[in-house]
Amino acid sequence: MSPTSLSVVSGSVIARAPSKVNLHLGVGPRRDDGYHDLVTVFQALSLHDDIRVARASDLTIAVRGEWANSVPADSSNLAARAAVALADWAGRPAKVAIDIAKTIPVAGGMAGGSADAAGALVALAQLWKLDISRDELAEIAADLGSDVPFALHGNTALGTGRGEQLMQVLSRGEYHWVLALAREGLSTPAVYRELDRLRESWSGQDLDEDELLRRPDELMQALASGDPHAVAPLLYNDLQPAALSLQPSLRRTLRAGVDAGALNGIVSGSGPTCAFLCADEQSAVNVAAELSGAGVARSVRTASGPAPGTRVLGDG
Ligand code: C5P
Repeated sequence: MSPTSLSVVSGSVIARAPSKVNLHLGVGPRRDDGYHDLVTVFQALSLHDDIRVARASDLTIAVRGEWANSVPADSSNLAARAAVALADWAGRPAKVAIDIAKTIPVAGGMAGGSADAAGALVALAQLWKLDISRDELAEIAADLGSDVPFALHGNTALGTGRGEQLMQVLSRGEYHWVLALAREGLSTPAVYRELDRLRESWSGQDLDEDELLRRPDELMQALASGDPHAVAPLLYNDLQPAALSLQPSLRRTLRAGVDAGALNGIVSGSGPTCAFLCADEQSAVNVAAELSGAGVARSVRTASGPAPGTRVLGDG
């Protein structure tokens, strides 16, 4: 059954939301509100979650897939919070059944929870036939979490502020990735805290905020050229030392991917997923096969980017 006919038959709407990798993640000092200013380049990846919503007598949430047991199926789930936020905006009760088919790793640094929130927003806006602009949706999204606006937006974008202020980045071509998913997740706040701790311990030197938050022009030029060989050496993540400090075994994972033939490897966002950029699709398949055999990850996936932002499936 196609997604379109499924929508019609059951009165439900399904949205597909992408994961992300940060090609560049520059992190400023901790702000007074606990957040950190960022300059980041996001790329949305084909690894996605599907979020189905249907009218119900109450707000319920169900999660399916490999990661189902690690996700709260209650009102703390970011998709449920998204439903409540959108219902408040629309002045209606959040009576809806949300069903999430998860393939994005949980606590993996790939914005899986943000994808589910973005999916709920887009699917519910359609189910409830709301007259809401993308900008208004993005505002609700930013209140839910720093990465939710990008999950809506997709493609390639420069993120500033907490990561919620987005500007489209010109990117040519398709990039092929191998993702090494870790056995244990990492909590995003814990990784930011570890970065603050490491920075304090690094001889107490003052952080040069301008330098930390410099726009990665060279990377943006490389993306416009469409050449993965130009992009690969420019991958950069300030959170990587913090993620490696909390999960030292990730060093071995990163080395194994490069030894297997990837152009470069990086911790994705706050980790612990490691993302390896490959020369082409065939190379990604080869690297994935070798990495699977190396025993350094819970599981290994291939993905491509940039992927589109969150969208209703089968809606032409
Ligand atoms: O915005 P979100 O709820 O996804 O952020 C989760 C946590 O990650 C925050 O509570 C904060 O500890 C950390 N964070 C940060 N600076 C950012 C984004 C997130 O310190 N720009």
